[in-house]
Amino acid sequence: MGGNVPLLSVDDLSVSFRTERGRAAVLDGVSFELQAGETLGLVGESGCGKSVTSLGITRLLPKPSGQIDRGSVRLDGQDLMELPAFEMQKIRGPRIGMIFQDAMTALNPVQRLSRQMDESIRLHAPTLSRAQATDRALELLTDVGIPSPELRLNDYPHQLSGGMRQRVMIAMALSAEPDLLIADEPTTALDVTVQAQILMLIKRLQAERGMAVIFITHDLGVVAQVCQRVAVMYAGRIVEQGSVASLFSDPKHPYTQGLFNSIPHLDRVPLTPLPTIEGQVPSPMDMPPGCRFAPRCQHATAACLTRPVLQSNPDRAVACHQVSL
Ligand SMILES: Nc1ncnc2c1ncn2[C@@H]1O[C@H](COP(=O)(O)OP(=O)(O)OP(=O)(O)O)[C@@H](O)[C@H]1O
Ligand SMILES: [Mg+2]
Repeated sequence: MGGNVPLLSVDDLSVSFRTERGRAAVLDGVSFELQAGETLGLVGESGCGKSVTSLGITRLLPKPSGQIDRGSVRLDGQDLMELPAFEMQKIRGPRIGMIFQDAMTALNPVQRLSRQMDESIRLHAPTLSRAQATDRALELLTDVGIPSPELRLNDYPHQLSGGMRQRVMIAMALSAEPDLLIADEPTTALDVTVQAQILMLIKRLQAERGMAVIFITHDLGVVAQVCQRVAVMYAGRIVEQGSVASLFSDPKHPYTQGLFNSIPHLDRVPLTPLPTIEGQVPSPMDMPPGCRFAPRCQHATAACLTRPVLQSNPDRAVACHQVSL
């Protein structure tokens, strides 16, 4: 990638949680990069560690149970893990915007929307007057499909329906004009037309501002629509990465094949959720040695009892003993 410093560089990120049964290693050596303006899809079955990855990057893991054991996260070359907490707070919002799976966690329950949006907008653009910030808030709320936004601005978060709250959270995240947006299942709870509207909005802002996006989703159709690259996670590790076009047409890892094979051509991708694969994701307390997918894999051999190294070329990275790039 031309020797440029990537916008985001996650290297060997490893996270564990303290539980009643001991320490659960939930992320094990997650690494990926993101260039400015790029959209990376992060996919994988429920529980594979997608949300924990985004909480690790933003240092929002629940305390004291969640802990980063190893790894670094660099934004424009700056290691976020080394920043004091108050500096990290300045990164969240204007540099890294977040849309969470649960909207309530992102909104302040005791502040009216007008105040929350005003703060978020003026953090990014401190020279705006209050009236200008309000105009901007109304524009964004309209963009995310909120009817009569001027009435809604006086509401508290609990006065909104779940879908409305989700949209307000999206508007808030976008209002700070972040360089990177981490969107964790941003549209899952919304109906299809609103979902399409929000995807369009995110794409437009990307084109206008060169915003990079990490898009976490169960929906491969959404990945095909909005992402350039995709990383496939399995049981706390990334097992394969590549461009959307090449990964959908030629998945290499047996797990990715299970997810993508039912979709023959990119141009015919229907709006499909992840297909299911036989067997169960292993528990973080009881991970198989070596390749974590081996117990569910038709191609597994004795070699798979050791951890596969990540093989990579400029277009693809894959961690599997049975595949050579
Ligand atoms: N606070 C926590 N304490 C203990 N374990 C946790 C905690 N949060 C997450 N985990 C565990 O970490 C693993 C990864 O969870 P994560 O929420 O990242 O999955 P996910 O890929 O986002 O799943 P989904 O698609 O359902 O949102 C799971 O095994 C989960 O049980
Ligand atoms: Mg999640």
